[in-house]
Amino acid sequence: MREQLSPTDSSSNRFDRRAGTLGEAAKVHFHDLHPAPADMRADVHQGLSLPQKQLAPKYFYDAQGSHLFDAICELPEYYPSRTEIDILRRHGAAMAERLGRDALLVELGSGSSLKIRVLLQALRPAVYMPVDISKDHLLQSAEALAETFPALQVHAVCADYSVPFVLPVDDHEHPRAAFFPGSSVGNFEPSDAERFLLRVGGLLGPGGRLLVGVDLIKERQTLEAAYNDAAGVTADFNLNLLTRINRELDADFDLTGFRHSALFNPELSRIEMHLVSIREQQATVAGRSFAFREGESIHTECSYKYSIEGFHQLIRRAGFEPEQVWTDVDVGSDQTPLFSVHCLVWRG
Ligand code: AVJ
Repeated sequence: MREQLSPTDSSSNRFDRRAGTLGEAAKVHFHDLHPAPADMRADVHQGLSLPQKQLAPKYFYDAQGSHLFDAICELPEYYPSRTEIDILRRHGAAMAERLGRDALLVELGSGSSLKIRVLLQALRPAVYMPVDISKDHLLQSAEALAETFPALQVHAVCADYSVPFVLPVDDHEHPRAAFFPGSSVGNFEPSDAERFLLRVGGLLGPGGRLLVGVDLIKERQTLEAAYNDAAGVTADFNLNLLTRINRELDADFDLTGFRHSALFNPELSRIEMHLVSIREQQATVAGRSFAFREGESIHTECSYKYSIEGFHQLIRRAGFEPEQVWTDVDVGSDQTPLFSVHCLVWRG
């Protein structure tokens, strides 16, 4: 069953803009679904109260965090981003054939909307709907995209896609497709990924297609290097979480008291990022105090890695069927691929 759609919500602003030389109207409609700021304090308090302290990776993406993530994607060690872009470049036409033209295309976690640029020429959606938690970054990226593609209808949605939300357009005329690149699906625990994908299926409706990027299991050395870059950008990205909490939740984390750690856990097939306390210390967050032993960590991110078959098992449990998978290695080659992009169809 298709999730119920509400008409454009009353809180949405609308940015109409003239697209210069072409004289066409390029519009970005903005829908703020208000990812609740009060929840961050409750989440942080709760996460820091657990025996294994933890913080959700969605909180990485304030303005500075979004900027640092873009920098990570440029790093020589961080292979997922450039490998995925390469797959999109090489197979964009085939992907477009699967997804179909004139779709309402929802991108989950659109960030700088760099990857969709590779696909737009081939995909030719009627409506592009980037969804991201980072409001200013989302708006800037959507505006820039609308400028490059003046004929495209852009509906930017500021929302936290890890919790249920409703698409803010009352649109039944376009077939629906979703794009979820970057292996962000790996940030979920597999059971949460299954629940999340079921929700995405609900947004798409039966027959709707999902194009999803998935990082593949590989040797430890390559994986750990990708999350421990020599320039220290990933460490800055991880530590920026504490900077953000200091600023937004009136906290007093000493940034020199924590170090970045990222290790591959082969039993669970995931990279785990932690912030490790280098000494015994205390920190206060919005009036509550938390104690850290020397060596105690805050678990800040999981990044699950899948085999193609393992991912297929997961998506089947959420009502999807695999249609096609593309990797960075040609069919018939005996090379081991680094990354995969799947076209899935929801059967409901
Ligand atoms: C975009 C969430 C998939 O896990 O590889 C990059 C985020 N964290 N370096 C990933 C990330 C550290 C990235 N995801």
